[in-house]
Amino acid sequence: MTSLRKLNEKYLAGEKLVVLTGYDALMSSLLAEAGVDCILVGDSLSNVIAGYSNTLPVGMEQMLWHTQMTVRGAKGTPVVADMPFMSYEISREQALANASRFIKEGGADAVKLEGGKAVYPVIKALTEAHIPVCGHVGLQPQSVLTLGGYSVQGKTEETAKKIKEDALAVQEAGAFAVVLEMVPAALAAEITSLLKIPTIGIGAGPHCSGQVLVTHDLLGMTGNKLKIAKRYAELRKEALEALSSYVSDVKKGLTPSEENSF
Ligand code: KIV
Repeated sequence: MTSLRKLNEKYLAGEKLVVLTGYDALMSSLLAEAGVDCILVGDSLSNVIAGYSNTLPVGMEQMLWHTQMTVRGAKGTPVVADMPFMSYEISREQALANASRFIKEGGADAVKLEGGKAVYPVIKALTEAHIPVCGHVGLQPQSVLTLGGYSVQGKTEETAKKIKEDALAVQEAGAFAVVLEMVPAALAAEITSLLKIPTIGIGAGPHCSGQVLVTHDLLGMTGNKLKIAKRYAELRKEALEALSSYVSDVKKGLTPSEENSF
C-alpha cells in the first residue's frame, strides 16, 4: 500500500492530518520521528532558508536538491514537492517534464502546485500520467506580484465563491488533497464539507481535514511571530544564547577545555 493511500484512509476515518514543511534530511528525520503524516518540501524555503523576500526566485534545481535531502531523512513518511514558480505554467509538456523529475530524481511521492480553475488542465494531465497532485487555493504566494501582498483571501461573497469553485476544480481534475491558505475559517469549513478530498489548512481555521505550517515558524526559528502559527518552542532565542556563550568562552580561552582536547 502506498503511503498516500494511508493518508486517504486516515482522512476517511476522520483523523486530522498533520503536514509540516521540511527542506533537508535533518528536519525530515525529526518530522518523521514526531509522527507527522506528510512532509511538504515547500517553496517557502526561498524565504525561510535561502533569504529571499518571496518564493519566486527558487527554481527546479534547488527544489530537486532539497527534495532529495528531505526524502533521505523521511523514513517512509510521504514527501510532497512544491512545483516552483514558472515550472508548470508554460505548457502541459513542461509541467509533465518537471513534475516527473520530482518523482524520478527527487524521490517524492507527489507534487503540489498553486492555482484553481486555471490549472485544471495541468492537474488533469499530471494525474492522468499517474503523478499524484496536491492543489493549493486561497492565498497563492507565487502570485504575490499581482496580489500586491499576502492578505486573507475570500472575504467577500464574490471572492469566496471563486475560491470554492477553485477548490472544486482542483478536486475534479484529480488532486488527492488541496491546501487552503489564508481564508476565513467559515469558508474553509464550508469547502471542507463540500469536498471529498482532504483540505489542508494554513491560516484557514480549525475545521480543515488537516493542517500545514512552516516548521521553522512553529519552532520559533524564524524572526517574525505570525498570527497563523502558534510557537511551540523558541529555538532562535536558544540558539542565539548558545552561540553568544560560545563566542564569549572562546574569547576568554575557556573552550576548548582539557575535556575537549587530546
Ligand atoms: O511553500 C510552502 O511552504 C507552502 C505551505 C506553507 C502550504 O506552500
